[in-house]
Amino acid sequence: DKTSATATLRADQPGDTVSRYIFGQFAEHLGYGIYGGIWVGEDSKIPNTRGYRNDVVEALKKIDVPVVRWPGGCFADEYYWRDGIGPRDKRRVKINTHWGGVTEPNSFGTHEFMDFTELLGTDAYVSGNVGSGSPREMAEWVEYMTYEGASSLAEERRANGRDKPWKLPFFGIGNEMWGCGGNLAAEQAANLHRQYQTFVKVPAGQHVTKVAAGANSDDYNWTEAMMRIAGKHMDALSVHYYTVPGGWPPRASSFEFDEAAWIETLASALKVDELLRRHIEIMDRHDPEGKVALYLDEWGTWYEGLEGVNPGFLHQQNTLRDALVASLHFDIMSRYAGRVKMANIAQMVNVLQAMILTKDAQMLLTPTYHAFEMYKPWQDATHLPFKLETPDYRLGDTTVPAVHGSAVRGKDGHVYVALTNLDPNRAASVSASTSGLQATAVSGRVLTAGAITAHNTFEQPEQVKPATFDGATLSGGTLRVELPAKSVVILQLQ
Ligand code: AHR
Repeated sequence: DKTSATATLRADQPGDTVSRYIFGQFAEHLGYGIYGGIWVGEDSKIPNTRGYRNDVVEALKKIDVPVVRWPGGCFADEYYWRDGIGPRDKRRVKINTHWGGVTEPNSFGTHEFMDFTELLGTDAYVSGNVGSGSPREMAEWVEYMTYEGASSLAEERRANGRDKPWKLPFFGIGNEMWGCGGNLAAEQAANLHRQYQTFVKVPAGQHVTKVAAGANSDDYNWTEAMMRIAGKHMDALSVHYYTVPGGWPPRASSFEFDEAAWIETLASALKVDELLRRHIEIMDRHDPEGKVALYLDEWGTWYEGLEGVNPGFLHQQNTLRDALVASLHFDIMSRYAGRVKMANIAQMVNVLQAMILTKDAQMLLTPTYHAFEMYKPWQDATHLPFKLETPDYRLGDTTVPAVHGSAVRGKDGHVYVALTNLDPNRAASVSASTSGLQATAVSGRVLTAGAITAHNTFEQPEQVKPATFDGATLSGGTLRVELPAKSVVILQLQ
């Protein structure tokens, strides 16, 4: 039993550049995200470089992480940057009130984060504290990080071991101001944005992209107010959207679920399409020249936390289903590449839809990690129109397209096609007519597994991983693909 879909691929109609930053990551002081997941300290028995886990750094390097957002999230609006500088044993210890009520030792601070981004070869996206901090604190933090000349703050940075200023390409003015960032009304938040961003200044010759704290999923009124009141005072506006099957608060299992939860999760992930479209429509009205970018700077699945772990740690498993959630997001964001210039999955290690899970000295790569790795050719590629005519995959009252996809011309000049088969029971034959394609050969890789709940464990870390795919042919300008059920396939046309 098979479905069949048709498609047209227009290699002769190059579109917008798919920003590499849509493959960005988010790392908050939350559970084992930083402590244990990235940072173990120099004295740890776990092999590390200056305190950073070697295994995690090495794995992250392989997916070309373009940007990391830090220190939060909700944590950012309670973060006082001075707590995290200077000798580690003298740093202020505080309570992480948002995430599990645990002790925050502040041993991972500005220097450790910036050093980490340099180790990874990635860009820094620092979120400032609007909710409980002052414009002055924000201004001083930015000066501490970026000033080269003679100022007390620059001297202090040097005394703390960093001579040259760091690069600060992105700075967030608060986070979720409608919630943990201050419980503000949209108009109030927009005015506060105008005020705080005034004091975020970098020295001449440097540029910092100022990101305004955006809407909670479909709160279009928020985007409307932000753009109307503060649109001229920002380079980017964020939006957060989580895939939460079973509704809020998150209560669905991350790894024990049935087909109803599978389709519900994918349907919920697909909603990001309408969401981006509608936020963009509002931005287009206020900013027809497209000066302000839209950043989906928190996204991903949010399930019930794993048993035996502090529920405030948001520690969940990651299955094949999560890889499909990721592929759908990548396809959709590529389509909105003209406006969507960054996204940060929540979160990088051990938290929510993580790339990597760790347990003491052990590490595993999740199916989501593999989706990021497989989509690497999309980074800074050129979007190509790829129109699919697909039957539905239906269960109960829920309907989603059986096949989803996107296409790009990579920086290497080759055309890449992504195809996801959402149907867990039926393979799909896809026949795509192409135009403007010089390629004559096709090769590919596939991510799939025997069960919808398939996932990697510390005992069996390679249950879900990419394999060579030989189910595609290209002849006479027609691309034919036999997609296995529940799979993500990436094709390179050469
Ligand atoms: O990613 C976890 C939390 O989700 C973030 O701290 C917050 O911004 C959002 O509500």
